[in-house]
Amino acid sequence: MEIFQTVEAFKDYTKAMKAAGKTIALVPTMGALHAGHIALMEAARKAADVVIASVFVNPTQFGPNEDYEAYPRAFSEDCEKLKQVPVDAVFHPEPAALYPEGYATYVAVEGDITNKLCGAQRPGHFRGVATVVTKLLHLARADKAFFGQKDAQQLIIIKKMTRDLNFDIEIIGCPIVREKDGLAMSSRNAYLNPEERKAATCLSKSIALGESIIKKGLPARELKDRMEKIIKGEPLAKMDYLEIVDLNTLQPVECINDSVLVAMAVHFGKTRLIDNFICEI
Ligand code: PAF
Repeated sequence: MEIFQTVEAFKDYTKAMKAAGKTIALVPTMGALHAGHIALMEAARKAADVVIASVFVNPTQFGPNEDYEAYPRAFSEDCEKLKQVPVDAVFHPEPAALYPEGYATYVAVEGDITNKLCGAQRPGHFRGVATVVTKLLHLARADKAFFGQKDAQQLIIIKKMTRDLNFDIEIIGCPIVREKDGLAMSSRNAYLNPEERKAATCLSKSIALGESIIKKGLPARELKDRMEKIIKGEPLAKMDYLEIVDLNTLQPVECINDSVLVAMAVHFGKTRLIDNFICEI
């Protein structure tokens, strides 16, 4: 497995792979890899000749009071996991390699798909994501890129961005991978203390209830109330949002008539976790 830290060496590698007629799949990550990431790598392995993982904690997607410094970094352990897949190459740049002195160019997907849900709570977050993903897709010369469905809004925004900017790439979303007790895998789960970790299962319990009762014609208010009751019954949980929105526009719906995204963000102490499910009608 080759490891690249500079933009130049990485570009040379991906150029050579393309010249040799290989298809390339990219799995962008911020590292601290868990089974959810490995499932993305395995899906990529089946889909292309060359699989590249990027491991980069992207500073531009963190707000000033967010966890950029504290975000878990475990590059050696990540490489051991990536070798097992196996992945062909890892791109692991320093922030200054992607954002050198004087850097001034950003990609912003406008409108409600960016401003609602996590975008409302984390201004500038998706601008940072869209910018770094654009750079990574270009540098990797990727034919396909894989993202987790846990970050449902991110996936919707990246699909829109690549369509709007006419990127010649296929964006593939992969199912949420869960712990045995239902908690969606996330690098941020590592922040939870044992009590918060136990309490955090209220997210997946709420999701499981939602999945079991959702049906065409159900008023969204009823679904929301019943799902929220589970979160509100957990003393350590502080709700950020629980929204039932149209899958394409992310506009709130009154009744389940079309495909919807049911998404939530909840704080446990200083840790903010997200979870969701999609109901396709
Ligand atoms: O989902 C993530 O880990 C990040 O937002 C991504 C897509 C790697 C961009 O930094």
